[in-house]
Amino acid sequence: MACGQCQSGAANVFGERAARRRLERYRAKGPGGTTRMLLDALRAEGVAGLTLLDIGGGIGAIGFELLGAGVATATEVELSPAYVLAARDEAERQGVADRYACRAGDFVALADDFVALADDLPAAGIVTLDRVICRYPDMPALVGQSAVKAARLYGAAYPRDVWWVRAIRVVANVGLRVTRNPLRLFIHRTAAVEAVVRGGGLVPLFHRDAGYWQVVVYGRPT
Ligand SMILES: C[S@@+](CC[C@H](N)C(=O)[O-])C[C@H]1O[C@@H](n2cnc3c(N)ncnc32)[C@H](O)[C@@H]1O
Repeated sequence: MACGQCQSGAANVFGERAARRRLERYRAKGPGGTTRMLLDALRAEGVAGLTLLDIGGGIGAIGFELLGAGVATATEVELSPAYVLAARDEAERQGVADRYACRAGDFVALADDFVALADDLPAAGIVTLDRVICRYPDMPALVGQSAVKAARLYGAAYPRDVWWVRAIRVVANVGLRVTRNPLRLFIHRTAAVEAVVRGGGLVPLFHRDAGYWQVVVYGRPT
């Protein structure tokens, strides 16, 4: 199957230069606004001693911050090879490489030439997708297969389902098409995302709108 979200697309948008810039910004200023909001909401639920699976974690900010908050181990799955290298580099620099792993690849794999990592990964106490759902066309696969991996908490930041966010998406996708980048942005219906997460057995604990983004945390009832 042809896949616009393939590794070459990720490598174009999330390439070496972008990885270097994001890492420098993280080292200088810490996580960005929506990531901080997601982290605060997760910490408020209690994260100490849990394991983390961060899907599409970029340079690894969520993993490093939650390790600092007492998470036992963090595993990231990341499509962009440049981000994988940056995250591993940062893990060494922070001295957490023994508790942090970054696996290169596609969590669900739409394209035939990619191996899906989801089946290979155990459940984790916390599963996060920070600004990743909008990068993947098959939301039910990405959200459905990740929600069932969350033993306690599921956190995500994804675009709000409002007209002006949809307008920004159209412009952004024209830009990607013009620059011949196969990557596309997707605004999935909030109700549809929620239905898939709830279908994975999770219930809502936190929701906040933040400009373009919405930040959500779900929990698994005990
Ligand atoms: C906008 S970036 C967000 C990175 C990071 N979570 C953050 O908020 O800074 C989206 C990331 O998701 C990754 N990604 C998208 N789909 C993925 C998939 N199916 N499996 C693994 N990584 C994926 C991309 O390579 C990219 O690094």
